[in-house]
Formats: sequence, C-alpha cells, structure tokens
Amino acid sequence: MSTDRRKFLKHLGTSVLLTSASLTALAAKEENESRLLQAEKRVGPNDKIRIATIGIGIMGFKDTRAALTVPGVELVAVCDLYKGRLERAKELYPDVSPTVDYREILDRKDIDAVIIATGDSWHSQIAIDAMRKGKAVYSEKPMVHQISQGLEEIKVQQETKAVFQVGSQRISSIAYKKAKELYEAGAIGKINSIEASFNRQSALGAWQYTIPTDAGKQTVDWARYQANAKVKHDYDSNRFFRWRNYREYGTGVAGDLFVHLLTGIHFITGSKGPERIFSIGDLDYWKDGRNVPDVMSAVIHYGETKEHPAFQVTLRVNFISGEGDHTSTKIVGSEGVIDLGGEGDSFTIRKNRMPIATGIGGWDSLETYPLAQQKLLLDAYNNKYSANDQQAPVIPDVSYRAPEGYNASNDHFANFFESVRNGKPVVENAVFGFRAAAPALACNDSYFEGKIIRWDAENMKII
Ligand SMILES: NC(=O)c1ccc[n+]([C@@H]2O[C@H](COP(=O)([O-])OP(=O)(O)OC[C@H]3O[C@@H](n4cnc5c(N)ncnc54)[C@H](O)[C@@H]3O)[C@@H](O)[C@H]2O)c1
Repeated sequence: MSTDRRKFLKHLGTSVLLTSASLTALAAKEENESRLLQAEKRVGPNDKIRIATIGIGIMGFKDTRAALTVPGVELVAVCDLYKGRLERAKELYPDVSPTVDYREILDRKDIDAVIIATGDSWHSQIAIDAMRKGKAVYSEKPMVHQISQGLEEIKVQQETKAVFQVGSQRISSIAYKKAKELYEAGAIGKINSIEASFNRQSALGAWQYTIPTDAGKQTVDWARYQANAKVKHDYDSNRFFRWRNYREYGTGVAGDLFVHLLTGIHFITGSKGPERIFSIGDLDYWKDGRNVPDVMSAVIHYGETKEHPAFQVTLRVNFISGEGDHTSTKIVGSEGVIDLGGEGDSFTIRKNRMPIATGIGGWDSLETYPLAQQKLLLDAYNNKYSANDQQAPVIPDVSYRAPEGYNASNDHFANFFESVRNGKPVVENAVFGFRAAAPALACNDSYFEGKIIRWDAENMKII
C-alpha cells in the first residue's frame, strides 16, 4: 500500500463522520462555533478594529455585513460615487460618515482597515494608496485590473508590511480546507486534470443589474469614476451600474469568475500557477452593448513542479446555459475525483480504482479471433487472475457539507482581522492573489490577442 493511500485511509478512519452528510454538518458547525467563541474570548475593550468600506455596492454591503460578524469590528465610514448607496449605508449604519473621496478615509488616523469593493478598475490604485497610508487592506477580487499592476502592488505591500488579503472567500471555507486535507492525504491518487465552470441562465446572472430611477450626473460622481480611465466616455448609466460588461472597468468573465476557480484550485493543489494559457470566447446572447464575451472557455497547462505533477485545467463560463445555474470544480486524479459544489461549501469524493486484472472480452478484439484462439486466451487470462483480481474495488463516496447558513465570507474576514490583530499571515496575500488573478486575466489577453500566453508563475511575469 502506498504511503499516500495509508495516510488517506488513516485519515478516514479517524474521521468516520465524513461518510455522513448530516453528521459532517454537525461537526463542521461545532468547529465553527468553537472558533467564534475563541475569537470572542480574545477581544478586549481596547481591541476594537475600526473599518471603512470603499465602494459600497452589492459586494460592499455583503462584505461589510460579513466583516461585522467578527467580534470587535466597527464600521465608521463609507465611500461611494452614487448618492443612493451612501444614503442606503446611512439607513443601515446611521453612525457612519459618508464620502465620495476615498482619500478622506485614508487620511483618518482612527481607521485601521479598509474594504475595497469598487469595480475592478479601482482596486489596485486604492489598495496601494491605502497601504501607503498605513491601512490594512481587504481588496475584492480580482486583485488587479491589468497584469501590469501586480508586481507594483506586491512591492508596496512588502515595503509597507500592510496586512493585505484578497477577497476570494472560498479559500477560507471549511469545505475547501477539508478538501485540501483529503487531497494532500492522497484521496484521488495522482492529479492529472481539473474541469471547472460557472453556468448561468438569467439576466441578473449575466450582470444586467437593476439601475435606480434617479441615475444620472446629479447622483453619480462620473468625473471621479472616470479619473483613472485611459479613454473617457460621456455619462452612461450602464457603464456605471453594469460596469462588468465593459473591459474599461471590469475584467470580463475571466477576471470576475475564472479567478474564483483558479483561487480554489491553487489553494487545494498548492500550485503557484500555470505555464501556458489559451482561451476562446463568443458574445452569444447578451448583446446589450457589452464588449466582453458571455461564453468563454480556457485551456490551461500546469507544468510539473515540486508542489504537484503536471495537470491540465479547462475553465468555462456560460451565461446562456441551457443547463441552468450550475457551478462546479472537479479535480480529477488517477484514483478519484473531488467534486466541489457551487458556493464552495460542499464536496463529494468519488473513488474509482482499476481492478488488478486488465480485462478481456466485451469491447475488445477477443471475439474477432477464431474460437480456439479465444479459448486459449481466456484460459490463460483466468489462470493468471483470480475472481477477486477481476473486480474493481468498491469504495464508498465521501461527502462533506458545511452547516446550514454557513458563510465562507465570515471566515475570510475572521482570518483577515486575526492578521490585523496578531500578525498571523493570511493565505490569500498579495502574492497568492496575483498568482490567481494574472492567469485569469491572461485568459482575456489570449482571447483578445488570439494567442497562447506563457506565464512564469514563480516570478509572476509574462514570458
Ligand atoms: N468575492 C465575491 O464573491 C464577489 C462577488 C461579487 C463581487 N465581487 C467584487 O466586488 C467588487 C464590487 O462588485 P459589485 O457587484 O459590488 O459592484 P457594484 O457596482 O454593485 O458596486 C461597486 C461600487 O463601487 C463604487 N465605486 C466605483 N469606483 C469608486 C471609487 N473610485 N471610489 C469610491 N467608490 C467607487 C460604485 O459607486 C459602486 O457603488 C468587484 O470588484 C467584484 O469583482 C466579489
């Protein structure tokens, strides 16, 4: 028996709970509650962390809510470029001070950390400015809008030593943690490929978000919004409220969604990133003026490194999928597959191993030979292999599900604030964040430039 297999079986032996979804949920819930209790115990009255959210739209509100589940965290300011969102923030958090200028927040000495949840084109600049002003930074994904911004941002983080975490929350999910443990214990044998996808079939899923009736130059600070854009456009509500549909502000399905998939893949496999990236795309259905594809596929090659054997990754986003809404990541090895479900809070491991015997007959050439020859071959085969050798081992599935209502973002923020409090390093730091963002963005470059992108994952450079 291989060491990996022994490790895996030992692991399962000590963790029988894993074979029952409901018991697993209970165990996970207990683990989660005990972590929260520990966190509460550690927070004294002087341990308050004062935060501000910059960009308080859909994710800004969700992130803020998740951040405030962590004991001792207090929201003191918000920044946004649309009046209605500042008003909404005041409705929910009456004591916060609102502003349209994020630099006012960075100048405040009483703010320890900022959440950056603007559209993609502002992440890097605000993060760099914030770190230089001594703030801890939780930056939404993708870490950068352009690959060329990554090394500078990493440099600033290293110079300032700011706590910095990117917001792909699945990396802090208890399900991903467990999947990583089992992967490392040899649960699927030797990895060779991964298929991961987001399928959607709705206008909201395709980013046609609701636009308020008062949207216009009176309520939106259009000049500030465009301040860092290379090409300036006249006011356009779509470009503001549905910015994902435009390359100038968003990063297409690759930067928006592939990045989550790659983050999860890198976390579980321990990979630093791929070496070759190729992608194709079409604007198939949502022809609403957007300049990014709504169906995109990428083929990505990860070479052999000390962290893992070579493997291939295929990624797809389909915004007009007749399959309906479905998200999955399947990590395939020589002896099994880890099938991670939608929101990264559950997975199943299915294992298949070949029987010792190679097989004979059925879909085979056996029948095409004269009967005497067939008999000779069958006799020899049956002499060589016992009945047992001819059976594939039956190995039960292993399922894991996080407890009802589990939210990985809460844990992601708990990890971030733990780092702010006591310096414990975060997993999704600037280097990790860029190593996931860059190959995702390279899918766009591959598609728009029609070429294979070669990536040096160790040094984080396009070759
Ligand atoms: N981690 C996740 O699962 C997840 C999910 C959704 C979105 N996101 C990320 O969150 C970010 C925000 O997405 P969203 O759906 O909330 O977008 P959104 O349009 O709802 O909100 C973005 C807000 O940022 C504000 N803004 C833009 N530029 C600004 C600037 N310079 N200063 C201050 N405010 C500014 C806008 O006014 C807007 O209200 C994106 O980067 C997205 O990729 C992450």
